Amino acid sequence: MFWTFFVCLLLLIIETSSFIDNNGEIKPIMEALQTNVTVISGQKAKLACIFSSINHELSLSSSHQLIWIRQSYGSHNGDSILAHNQDLLITDYRLNIQRTDHDYSLTITNVNIDDEGIYTCEVNTQPPQKAFVHLYVQVFL
Ligand SMILES: *[C@@H]1O[C@H](CO)[C@@H](O)[C@H](O)[C@H]1NC(C)=O
Repeated sequence: MFWTFFVCLLLLIIETSSFIDNNGEIKPIMEALQTNVTVISGQKAKLACIFSSINHELSLSSSHQLIWIRQSYGSHNGDSILAHNQDLLITDYRLNIQRTDHDYSLTITNVNIDDEGIYTCEVNTQPPQKAFVHLYVQVFL
């Protein structure tokens, strides 16, 4: 009798918590770890998008395509795709890309003022989702 009650209570708790998950605010499946990243010129910047596991129905799988984009800057008109999944699409020895089950990150070593700008990570969900990271570079003369 006691155990039946206990199990029912447990099931109720589990039900209730999944209810909240499903009907609460829908979390994006991909978010910037930090929206604003500020680094000093010459240092390393890590721009990271993290995958949320809160929404079990909307989870990211290894079949999803991920890209890092740099928004137009300076004389570069239009966005440039920097990386697709693990692959860098531009030649810049300072860039490093990493994709794990939890995040997708772009690391820039030896940052300079020209790197300052807006970067976005994007996933080809339906509809596609993107997260923005603003990189600020401080230069001390
Ligand atoms: C990022 O920077 C912008 C502009 O400087 C500011 O409006 C915004 O609140 C900052 N966001 C966070 C999460 O700090």
